[in-house]
Amino acid sequence: MENLKGSNNSWGLVAKLFHWIVAIFILLQIFFGINLHFMNPSSTKGDLIHYHKIFGTLIILVIFLRLAWKFYNPSPSHNKLSFLHKIGSKIVHILLYLLIIILPIQGMFLTWAAGSDVLLLGLIKLPRLMRRIYLMRNT
Ligand code: HEM
Repeated sequence: MENLKGSNNSWGLVAKLFHWIVAIFILLQIFFGINLHFMNPSSTKGDLIHYHKIFGTLIILVIFLRLAWKFYNPSPSHNKLSFLHKIGSKIVHILLYLLIIILPIQGMFLTWAAGSDVLLLGLIKLPRLMRRIYLMRNT
């Protein structure tokens, strides 16, 4: 049975689970997001947006738990890699983390811009970080 914690030569079960849970959740969100884009306004679309937001805030929580786990646990050593390889993988990892953090946060700003509140897991109201944006339509 694999160790829960990481070591010098393994990520450990918990880190692997975090990895795949975040990957699958984000792919599901993209799939539902793209579907939302093509749906006409309806109560079904409203429901889907509601669940999209709950799921999106869950993803942020899981990402922060994952980061906390990463910082407090050993990960496999990269000593055998070349300098360029190490720097390249560091930059790509940082960019990927930024991307998965910015993605749900931009969804939250989209919600505030539309004048709605963001509820963490659909339960806890988060403070609004921007005001509603009123769009002028030339029709
Ligand atoms: C990893 C997390 C997330 C991913 C991958 C994601 C992805 C997407 C995608 C692909 C769209 C369609 C964009 C378009 O219309 O072109 C979308 C729309 C949207 N998302 Fe997210 N989203 C995430 C998290 C969130 C969160 C946390 C919120 C709010 C709490 C949110 C709120 C919205 C809203 C309001 C829309 C517009 C729906 C509409 O009116 O068509 N998203 N999202």
